[in-house]
Amino acid sequence: MDVLPVIKKRFSVRKYQDKPVDREVLMRLMEAARIAPSASNRQEWRFVIIEDSAKRVALCQAAMGQSFVSKAPVIIVACAETDDHVMACGEKCYPIDVAIALQHVALQAVHEGLGTCWIGAFEQEKVKTILGIPEGVRVVDMLTVGYADCDPPSTKRRKDMEEIVCFEKWSF
Ligand SMILES: Cc1cc2nc3c(=O)[nH]c(=O)nc-3n(C[C@H](O)[C@H](O)[C@H](O)COP(=O)(O)O)c2cc1C
Repeated sequence: MDVLPVIKKRFSVRKYQDKPVDREVLMRLMEAARIAPSASNRQEWRFVIIEDSAKRVALCQAAMGQSFVSKAPVIIVACAETDDHVMACGEKCYPIDVAIALQHVALQAVHEGLGTCWIGAFEQEKVKTILGIPEGVRVVDMLTVGYADCDPPSTKRRKDMEEIVCFEKWSF
């Protein structure tokens, strides 16, 4: 089982074909989210899947007008129904857990021949109003999903290994 090639193949897709995603395929993406790990197995994630074109346009406006957001046939709005639980390490669980689950989706999407893009630039309250999301729920991120209408970038701009990894002692 070789996972690294799938991870390497993923890139942010910001141009989509006008082609729907089958419900069966979509539910396989969501199965990848469902079985993700979470702190104390809390599974606080909730996903609102948007296919309706008027709602996609509204979400595009809530996402600072990033036009490709409305062009993607599917937008997964990743939320947390959370009590703001903080782990012993001092970090809140919910953003971590939701992000892990959403990245599972992004990687399963690669396997299905689909492209995705994370969307963190959006107005929380606008998204909640558009989708009727209750006050206590957090919208953590959105993910556009669809068939890419663009080529992968020739290179990935990333830091070198020694800039981000050290052994035994902090030595950056
Ligand atoms: C939490 C998060 C939020 C992001 N928000 C946006 C966004 O609002 N708009 C966008 O075009 N890309 C967004 N991105 C995509 C990043 O810009 C992208 O992942 C990064 O530049 C690396 O490129 P790659 O995904 O093609 O490897 C986001 C990525 C992450 C992980």
